[in-house]
Amino acid sequence: MTETESGISIPSYRRENREIDPPLDYEGYRSTALRHPKNPLVLLPHMLTEVTGPVLGEGRLGPYDWDLTRHGDAEPIGQRIQVSGRVLDSDGRPVPNTLVEVWQANAAGRYRHIVDQWPAPLDPNFVGVGRCMTDSEGRYRFLTVKPGAYPWKNHHNAWRPAHIHFSLFGRAFTQRLVTQMYFPDDPLFSEDPIFNSVPDPEVRKRMVSRHDWETTEDHWQLGFKWDIVLRGRDATVFEEPHA
Ligand SMILES: [Fe+2]
Repeated sequence: MTETESGISIPSYRRENREIDPPLDYEGYRSTALRHPKNPLVLLPHMLTEVTGPVLGEGRLGPYDWDLTRHGDAEPIGQRIQVSGRVLDSDGRPVPNTLVEVWQANAAGRYRHIVDQWPAPLDPNFVGVGRCMTDSEGRYRFLTVKPGAYPWKNHHNAWRPAHIHFSLFGRAFTQRLVTQMYFPDDPLFSEDPIFNSVPDPEVRKRMVSRHDWETTEDHWQLGFKWDIVLRGRDATVFEEPHA
């Protein structure tokens, strides 16, 4: 614990060496050349703002926010999947009651977004955003359809492997994580600069979910498991070049 000038005791968090994350300027990912910081980063002391965070209660969640297949008048087209796992902190302890948000392309690989205009169909029954709170054991769960791969103009014939974007707040701003979850054995991994911008191939694997029979249900859904570690030696990496 550390004490602020006003005498408030706050939990201390170790500042991390985040060498596992992608470099700020990654040659293969072209747009990072323009948007990476050009000056050295300034390390701010961890005060009250850094070790606390927004507290989002369950009251703000709608009953089907976790179920992306129920946001239209009918079921969306696509392979129905459940994605579930646990949110853990640096010591492997579960992070309960924390907000997990996701967004993804539809089964054809298209986002419902004005900027996404490639000729894949939109699905009137799929919006592609969801959120849930972890339970007391740090568990989360989403029901959705498997997103398709999509082209992204980074280079000729550039296709993103199927992925779901995740955003987590953790218990404090120091645990903030924005990343992407991938599916096992995707043939597009080898040519994807975002996936490969993570320097260590072993750390890259932390972004890949595994197929799970326990949550696979006969004639209903395929199950995928993915645990998210917010900090520490086994931390899940940030999605792209990041400080
Ligand atoms: Fe994406």
